[in-house]
Amino acid sequence: MELAVVGAGHVGAVCAACMAAVGHRVRVVDVDAQRIALLRAGRAPFFEPGISELLEQGRTRELLSFHVDPAEALPGAALVFLCVNTDNGPDGSVDLSYVESAVQTVSRFADDGAVLVNRSTAPVGTAEYIRSMIEELRGGSLHVAVNPEFLAEGTAVHDFLEPDRILIGAWDKTPIALLAEAYAPIVERRLPSDLREMLANGHRRSGDVPFVVTDPASAELAKYASNSLLAVRVSFINEIAGIAEELGADITKVARAVGLDTRIGPHFLRAGIGWGGSCFPKDIVALQGIAETRGLSARMLRAANEVNTEQRMWTTRQLQSHFKTLFGRRVGLLGLSFKPGTDDMRNAPSLEIASQLAQANVQVRALDPAVKTLPAGFEDKIELLEDPESLATGADALVLVTEWPEFADLDLRRLRGLMRTPLLLDGRNFFDPERARSAGFTYMGVGRAQEVAGVVPALPDAEPSAGDDEVLIGVTAARR
Ligand code: NAD
Ligand code: UGA
Repeated sequence: MELAVVGAGHVGAVCAACMAAVGHRVRVVDVDAQRIALLRAGRAPFFEPGISELLEQGRTRELLSFHVDPAEALPGAALVFLCVNTDNGPDGSVDLSYVESAVQTVSRFADDGAVLVNRSTAPVGTAEYIRSMIEELRGGSLHVAVNPEFLAEGTAVHDFLEPDRILIGAWDKTPIALLAEAYAPIVERRLPSDLREMLANGHRRSGDVPFVVTDPASAELAKYASNSLLAVRVSFINEIAGIAEELGADITKVARAVGLDTRIGPHFLRAGIGWGGSCFPKDIVALQGIAETRGLSARMLRAANEVNTEQRMWTTRQLQSHFKTLFGRRVGLLGLSFKPGTDDMRNAPSLEIASQLAQANVQVRALDPAVKTLPAGFEDKIELLEDPESLATGADALVLVTEWPEFADLDLRRLRGLMRTPLLLDGRNFFDPERARSAGFTYMGVGRAQEVAGVVPALPDAEPSAGDDEVLIGVTAARR
């Protein structure tokens, strides 16, 4: 099929590269000429595992092309996917100006009968608004549909090609039929062998991918509800982590025991320094605003946000309880991106931590496998280093901010020897506390029994390893 994608960001570039990989001819248009130049040169404008290979493959097979001129990209496409940014404005409401200008472009250049498919996360009623714009601009000769994207950064290619579901919101049959045709290789799991091989390490499932069709409003709300529920789960486990910290329990064990309940499941129960990224923070605030402007209270969303704001203070609070004064201390951050597998720094907890520490006159240095440039305004708050030894040298504390798998190979004993004070704050409960302590560190994890003198006793020597959880839970149950 002939497809067009408007917006070459995380969603647009991944959608285009994956659609080309399953055999469609895809033309991408973006207003950012620099981004298009990079993509034309075969380079992804962001770090995302697997994307470069697919972009290169699409280019060499001549199935994928990048344009700044919509007149080159849009004519001839049966489906036009809108993947533009929908950030929140200063008052928290969704800024639809990028959607509006993209709709104007599509309206001008798309063929009669083409389907404009909104993939950007946008408030309930946006598809209706787009339809009214199209009606006004060209008398309604385009179909409109919604197809929310559920990919997560760091696993985007896998998530696109092996989704949990494909969600379509539409008023009439034409868009549904065309989208079903476009997604057929993914729904029916008829991926080319090279793609199957590439995904072999991920969890592959069998049976058709659920292709869910709803009215546009339900599809739009389902996207916000999905992100909000995931964020609520993380805030919930972070709240329990605070209780665990006080009571001397270990949240990683609590979460494992809770997540084994098949009604609950294990995902999004990892306690840490709070959620961030380009989506949870903006989408939860947006949905809260949407509810409140209609006079509805959004108590769960508000509470999840409050817990998250509080959680982002964890690092600073731990440092304050450990040192008499923070003035002049040196702290090394292990990781800067909002999660592993991406160089995305949008709303990353690291930025907030760095700002809090810089304000307390702490010298902040950082190391990240993917982040090589700092966002504007942070150049004087964070010193970016290249190796863990430099990060540890003279440091008063190391803080694990992003759980990059690479950090598992760090020589903790050697790093500890280079530091001024051997404090390790594990913001993602990534390290084995025993390993860290036996390397000579004072170790603190989120929601794990702490070592702050006089508050919570240190763990006993015979503390079982994470692998012993099931046995422990089993014994407790049997005793009861
Ligand atoms: P992004 O900021 O990375 O990319 C958006 C792109 O759209 C930019 O390259 C921008 O230049 C381009 N653009 C803006 N206006 C345009 C126009 N009129 N014509 C052509 N191009 C235009 O954003 P993203 O992360 O890809 O997110 C896009 C949307 O998808 C958002 O609504 C987001 O909430 C949603 N979403 C994002 C993710 C994610 O993981 N990043 C996942 C699911 C959904
Ligand atoms: C999230 C959703 O997972 C995607 O389904 C959705 O499409 C996307 O938002 C979006 O709409 O843009 P993403 O933001 O890439 O994807 O990352 P997640 O893996 O969801 O993580 C979000 C934040 O929650 C990160 O800061 C992560 O560290 C944190 N998190 C996640 C936890 O603290 N604990 C967990 O157990 C899981």
